[in-house]
Amino acid sequence: MKDKIKNTKTLEDLQKLYSDTFGKNGTMTLQLKNMANLSNDERAAINAENSELRQLFKEKQNELELAALNAKLATEYVDVTLDNEPQNHGTLHPLTQSLKELSAILESFGFTLCTGPEIEDDWHNFTALNTPEYHPARDMQDTFFLKNGNVMRTQTSAIQIRAMEKIGAPIKIFAIGSTYRKELDATHSAMFGQMEGLYVDKNITMSDLVATLRNLLSRFFEREIEIRIRPSYFPFTEPSIEFDMKWDKGKWIELGGAGMVHPNVLRNCKINPDEYQGFAFGFGWDRMAMLKYGLNDIRAFYDGDVRWLKNSGF
Ligand code: PHE
Repeated sequence: MKDKIKNTKTLEDLQKLYSDTFGKNGTMTLQLKNMANLSNDERAAINAENSELRQLFKEKQNELELAALNAKLATEYVDVTLDNEPQNHGTLHPLTQSLKELSAILESFGFTLCTGPEIEDDWHNFTALNTPEYHPARDMQDTFFLKNGNVMRTQTSAIQIRAMEKIGAPIKIFAIGSTYRKELDATHSAMFGQMEGLYVDKNITMSDLVATLRNLLSRFFEREIEIRIRPSYFPFTEPSIEFDMKWDKGKWIELGGAGMVHPNVLRNCKINPDEYQGFAFGFGWDRMAMLKYGLNDIRAFYDGDVRWLKNSGF
């Protein structure tokens, strides 16, 4: 009997064996029933056998249940260390990526991000920037005019005005945003991204401007960048410069405009130009992204073609 229990392979067989032993007409049940005429020793032997068998059944049941559980776990086992099916991961758009990089660099130089609206009024986009109505410099930019006299912001320089009106001097800010001009070819898009920097304080000079530009470019392109400045004209800076950087094969690439903030602009923002002076710069950061990532058609940035985004390595 004991061997039988020990050799049972399944819970059902054990169940059956159990009722054959302890069921209504089970072998042990009958022995227990008919103990009345037996000697004390014989009874003791049957009782001992009874407890031993019950114990054996219990142990066997535990053993078989554990085995069943293990078998179940083995078939339902999930290997969480296995590689997943390859997934299409989203990535940051190259423009977003370079924008984040440029912001992080300017922030590390102590500039604070400022914003302004894309539909701008005449005052912030032109007049306060020393470009009154009928000023010939208004023709430098092909402006989209709205019926109510507002414009699609042609330059993030408008944010300089908003920031100075709000914060006054000293001030050290940068701005990023979309700007709009009626231009469209491989290197121009009607909407493009501009980044602006403005630093007004006591004793700010042109060399602070040049150092800031050179450090900004060197950090962004992750190598020492040589820059060149050329005299230029913007109504809101005096003197004004344009800056280029040396690229492959010694080629100079035009990047943006800059200069010392014109006293009239400071005055328009209620800042005393005899006390404060500063520099401002502006450039198309989507062009910088093109150069960094080796792309040649600016319009592709805005087409949202997923195949292009994939092939351009992002
Ligand atoms: N706003 C000028 C442009 O769009 C660039 C510029 C910014 C020039 C700041 C001087 C100072 O061309």
